[in-house]
Amino acid sequence: MPAESKHRSRGPGRCLSFVVFLVALIAIAGLAVSILTYIKLMNDEEIMTSPSAAVGLANGEHIMTSPSSVMPVPDPRTEAVVACYPEENFNQAQCEKNGCKWLGSNHPRVPSCVFENNAGYVIETNDTQTETERSATLKRAGLTEMYGMEVREQIKVTVESIGDHMLRIYFAANDSWEIPSEALPMKRPTGTSTNKQYDVKFVTSPIFGVVVTRKSTGAVVFDTSIPGLIFTDQFVQISTRLPSDNLYGFGEHQHRRFKHDMNWRTWPIFTRDVAPVDEGINMYGAHPVYMNLENDSKATMVFLKNSHGMDVVLQPNPFPAITYKTLGGSLDFYVFMGPSPQQAVQQYTEAIGRPMMPPYWSLGFHLCRWGYKNLTEVENIVERNLRAGIPQDTQWGDIDFMYKKFVFTVDKATFKELPEFVDYLHSIGKKYIVIVDPGIGNNDTIITEAAKNSPSYNMYQDGKDANIYVKKSDGVQDFEGKVWPGRTVFPDFTNPNCSSWYAKWIRYFRNSENVSVDGLWIDMNEPASFSFDDPNLPESMKCQNNSWNNPPFMPHILQGDTGDLFRKTVCMDAKQYWGDHYKVHSLYGHSHAIATHAALKEVMPGKRPFIVTRSSFAGTSQYAAHWLGDNQSQWRQLPWSIIGMLEFSMFGFSMIGADICGFYFNTNYELCLRWMQVGAFYPFARNHNARKGDDGKFFRDQDPASWDEEFVGITRHILLIRYKMLPYYYTLFHEAHLHGKTVARPLMFEFPEDKNTWNIDRQFLIGPAFMVTPVLEENKTTVDGYFPKGRWFSYYDGEEIHNPGAMNTLNAPLSVINLHMRGGYIIPMQEPANSTVYSRKRDFGLAVNFDESFRADGHLFWDDGESEDTFGSNEYLLVHFNATKGERLDITVIHDGYAEARSLKIGMIELFGFISFPGELYIDGKRLPANQIRFKYHVVQIVDLNIPIAQNHTLTWTVY
Ligand code: NOJ
Repeated sequence: MPAESKHRSRGPGRCLSFVVFLVALIAIAGLAVSILTYIKLMNDEEIMTSPSAAVGLANGEHIMTSPSSVMPVPDPRTEAVVACYPEENFNQAQCEKNGCKWLGSNHPRVPSCVFENNAGYVIETNDTQTETERSATLKRAGLTEMYGMEVREQIKVTVESIGDHMLRIYFAANDSWEIPSEALPMKRPTGTSTNKQYDVKFVTSPIFGVVVTRKSTGAVVFDTSIPGLIFTDQFVQISTRLPSDNLYGFGEHQHRRFKHDMNWRTWPIFTRDVAPVDEGINMYGAHPVYMNLENDSKATMVFLKNSHGMDVVLQPNPFPAITYKTLGGSLDFYVFMGPSPQQAVQQYTEAIGRPMMPPYWSLGFHLCRWGYKNLTEVENIVERNLRAGIPQDTQWGDIDFMYKKFVFTVDKATFKELPEFVDYLHSIGKKYIVIVDPGIGNNDTIITEAAKNSPSYNMYQDGKDANIYVKKSDGVQDFEGKVWPGRTVFPDFTNPNCSSWYAKWIRYFRNSENVSVDGLWIDMNEPASFSFDDPNLPESMKCQNNSWNNPPFMPHILQGDTGDLFRKTVCMDAKQYWGDHYKVHSLYGHSHAIATHAALKEVMPGKRPFIVTRSSFAGTSQYAAHWLGDNQSQWRQLPWSIIGMLEFSMFGFSMIGADICGFYFNTNYELCLRWMQVGAFYPFARNHNARKGDDGKFFRDQDPASWDEEFVGITRHILLIRYKMLPYYYTLFHEAHLHGKTVARPLMFEFPEDKNTWNIDRQFLIGPAFMVTPVLEENKTTVDGYFPKGRWFSYYDGEEIHNPGAMNTLNAPLSVINLHMRGGYIIPMQEPANSTVYSRKRDFGLAVNFDESFRADGHLFWDDGESEDTFGSNEYLLVHFNATKGERLDITVIHDGYAEARSLKIGMIELFGFISFPGELYIDGKRLPANQIRFKYHVVQIVDLNIPIAQNHTLTWTVY
């Protein structure tokens, strides 16, 4: 407590904070205006019909809560078209004068001026043709100039077959910039190609195009024979026809629906520090990848390996298509043929890298907030949740604990005893994670002060000596921006020397600041810089007006209307090891994750690094988890969190979740409770809260124990269910890591042939077998959920869904979230505890859910939960559960490589879905006494079993 008063009395600190606050305020105000203008631009009628939806960052209690419907727009097309200079608003004469065709349209989103059929490239020479590769040289046709830049006269195209399900279609000029292989080495499937799923042909007239057909059905899944292929120095464009308008993906955005509205939506992709206020805005990560479902339910995924800023423009039926407009680079497409949605994701993640295997403890509940005033406050919050019986594995530290926001320091005034507290957390089975921002403070005055707070802290100078900061355009001076500590430099994580420097400072934090941190939260790595909204920015820190910073073509990114590509980030002509910032901007967070991962491996050898990153690119999930950023405590954000989670699952992130209860604004009782219920089932479950509002008032606490007894009781119950399910989650994470299966899944992934599932984004599955049907609206006590054909049993009492294949209305009073298990699956569980350290020692249980043929199947993967690559070193337990014909359950150990598992027992087996209850039950041939068998509602429970999980067993029964 005295620490708090000491902190308050520091004059210069307060003064600096005030200046930072003012600058931040101006920046936020400017940004809010831009966001509003932008949303207006992007979403015209839908958003504007809802006045409250346009409030942007205001606390929108009246904001609409259900997803708006898709509104078709009038369509003058007779084929797929591509807009020509859409930003110019040409009239017919101007359009034709610029070499384009007048289409005429009476809707602002539908282009009036489009490319002529002969605009693009034609074949000059056919170059190679082998079993696996075909290439050609193309020469330009039609246009010679675009956005004042010369259209390249010649480009190359190469199509490469990579195994049965994957192919690459690559267009490039002779000097097109490529993403370096150390950033993203596209892996190739192992094994020989025996049954190619696709055919490829070149279309030669009127314009060149590559057409990929699905062999089994003849469906054209990818087709670039649309006019408007253009390569210039800073504008590269291509369009592709789609087999259907069932399109999912592209990120990172806030999407109001999982299945896209194809009506001429434009989705900009360029990493950006901005809160997910509504759809239309480019956000933290860059994922130029989509999934398309053909009308017969076969799926493809298509990834454009290009890190430049871009627009993705969608066009609707009857000529569904996509136009990519990038700021440069090659057009390096990878097509994955599925045919199931799950297989398409598996093929995609096989190529970009499979998600990391998280430590077991990270599956527990996480608690965080920005704005803990001092350590005492954190201690009290941990304590009150502990006392309330809320399971919690991890406490987090946001920037509050740092000395003036200098990374890897501890403020000795307010958080002096953080090391002891972290040791205490460890002693009660909990972990501690801290935030790390990329910006390294380099203000001399603060550095001198920081050295008093943290002797031997000279991170800035050390990095300077190692020459690892992002450089200005001269390639010599360090680039400077402004982040939390004021003036900062930015580590160039693409520089191979950066990770050992980072490792050194993580070590410093652990050994000199004495904080035995367990994982790192890497934030602000889009990278964010506040300087460009500062009206008093010194000349030396401004971005020059040149074609990198102010490119001739500007994608529809936030604040792109200023002509500046660098708003809220680093100048585009800054230099990095992998290339100009212009090219690698959207790889900054990705490189930060790679370097942090390498550093943690160095500092904590043998342990799985746990990193959560805000910015990401394709492949980042190999190194880090992701959360969906600075959402708001508003009802509409709750369903959107499911959409974001499902999209990131598709992008290969198995560890994903949103800030539970909402980040900005004061949450409220009902919203927070409903959000705790949904969030308890996110793969990554963290309640995180922002600091304070514009009125200077701190947002209300939102940790579970900050509410009343009823709230605590409901939350405890739901979190204990999560903890009970963790063996199932962990097994799914293992399958994601090894085979690319998803943890959180849309229903469509499991039931692609059921068209009713294609639009569903208000329910989700965990793995194939666990369905979550949450209430996502205020004042509701029922919820409508779709249950595909099959058997579904209530998690709570085994009651079966009577009307599968249809919508069912379920009771959902405030205390209830509907959870169902799917017939045909066996779910491994474990008795819960208040942290995974303890739950991992408890008895396992099995929920056996019979399908119509009275069969069920499942697995358990188990290891020490923290060592690296236990699968590779064979130190794991794998058990198979299989119930056949409703008479017997076999528990078979497939791999017994983890000795500690041998003392763990199965305590209970629950059988769901008997039509009539069984008579006698036998375990390993021994009849079970009546007191070990309970008939509870619709469930048969066999209790007090006490049989080792790491041994084979057979349960048999007789049916009357
Ligand atoms: C931005 C992050 O998105 C948010 O979660 C965090 O609390 C703040 N930065 C402060 O570090």
